Amino acid sequence: MDTREQLLTQWGGYLFKAATAGYLTGKPVAIEHFRRIAGPRAGALEMAAGLDSGALVRALSRDNAALLRQFVPWAFQGQPLTYMSGRYVRVEAGWSDDLAETMIRLADLGQHPDPTSGRWIVGKNEHGVTIIPGLNDQTPHWLVSGTTGSGKSVALRSAVLQLSRDPANRLVLLDGKFGESLRQVQHLPGVAGPVATEGPDVRAALGWACAQMRERYRVGSADASPRPGRVVVVFDEFQQLTGDAVVVDLLRKLAEQGRAAGVHLLAATQHPTVDAFGDPSTRRNLVGKLALRVGDPDASRVAVGGRLPRADYLLGAGDAYAVGPGKLHRIQCAFVDGRDIDQAGAGAWDFDTWPDYAASDVGLDIPTGVSKPYTAQELGCALVAAYEGEGRPTFMRRMGVAGLPSTGSNRAYRLHKFGQEVLAWLDGQEYGLSYLGG
Ligand SMILES: Nc1ncnc2c1ncn2[C@@H]1O[C@H](COP(=O)(O)OP(=O)(O)OP(=O)(O)O)[C@@H](O)[C@H]1O
Ligand SMILES: [Mg+2]
Repeated sequence: MDTREQLLTQWGGYLFKAATAGYLTGKPVAIEHFRRIAGPRAGALEMAAGLDSGALVRALSRDNAALLRQFVPWAFQGQPLTYMSGRYVRVEAGWSDDLAETMIRLADLGQHPDPTSGRWIVGKNEHGVTIIPGLNDQTPHWLVSGTTGSGKSVALRSAVLQLSRDPANRLVLLDGKFGESLRQVQHLPGVAGPVATEGPDVRAALGWACAQMRERYRVGSADASPRPGRVVVVFDEFQQLTGDAVVVDLLRKLAEQGRAAGVHLLAATQHPTVDAFGDPSTRRNLVGKLALRVGDPDASRVAVGGRLPRADYLLGAGDAYAVGPGKLHRIQCAFVDGRDIDQAGAGAWDFDTWPDYAASDVGLDIPTGVSKPYTAQELGCALVAAYEGEGRPTFMRRMGVAGLPSTGSNRAYRLHKFGQEVLAWLDGQEYGLSYLGG
């Protein structure tokens, strides 16, 4: 057993005795089961206390964990946190510097996922498992939050480095802090143009991404060859530019409509306030969350997407919660530096300056290459198909069964995508059919 396991065992022993003697909640509490978890940056104990769990959580978190500090004579770093994790009472606290694993290099985290999968290694969780999120239907867009020095830019550069391995991807880099962080990766393969840092460039680069999105809806990619890849918009310190109404509008469009077109956002901010996004829909659609250390509980709520756990208790420099629907990991983010980036080689930009975009190319309306307007019945079928997760062939059969006239495959393709888009929009507005059903 290593030192960290020993400490957790000792810590658990003290808590067990104190609970059984009634020192914690004022009456004896039987703790049935302990799990020790020695993560890279923090240790945790999870214990089952049945009906007494609520009282135990309250007792242990009261007054800055005063009781816990009394019964656990071990100096941890930062503030310990107690909360319910499933049926367990979970107590978690940061290791002192000599016990913490603060530097986990990307290169040491094993095999990279298939580059065409849109997944990237984000870090290692507290069970030693490499966590590999993706740009997919569950988490099409990601919010990266963290106070200055928490590791946002390292996390973004690591993602860019990994996503550049798919030659079909197009990466759009935007940086609200003078390009200081993303310029280091702007030469990588697949980067479409220089890092945009100023208002006009940022508008043009976002406009380009939106026009790409719209074009993908217009032509559909039913028979696309070559494979279209993803457009990934990576925006560091976006709050610096959301005073610009055009930027706000373009970000909202990407976040609302990008998913089904393979257009994705990775957006980072040091001020995750409700207002930083300029539009609440953008915030709601950033479903994946990488919450690094933030400054206060309000920022934590936005960063994590809920009241718990508390990103303001994290320890900085890559210590993070990675959160997706139904998923939560405390991780140490993978570290990358110039050495890793140099090894990845270089590509050529599509543009040396971002082209101006026409506002009409990024409009919000239904793409007009459609010969005939969709009927209510067709849209209904498309929405149900999206809800049922059906592929296009099944969707076309569904239309037949519903007695609708058969359509060409392009029209079916667009309808099918459109149904997914409507569902995503409803989900983003929290009117999703899944909410209505459950
Ligand atoms: N995953 C990591 N592992 C180890 N150290 C890290 C990690 N991420 C960041 N650090 C350390 O923290 C420093 C700051 O990281 P980074 O520049 O990514 O922070 P930031 O959140 O972008 O800060 P700022 O708001 O100042 O831009 C790094 O130079 C590095 O020393
Ligand atoms: Mg930074």
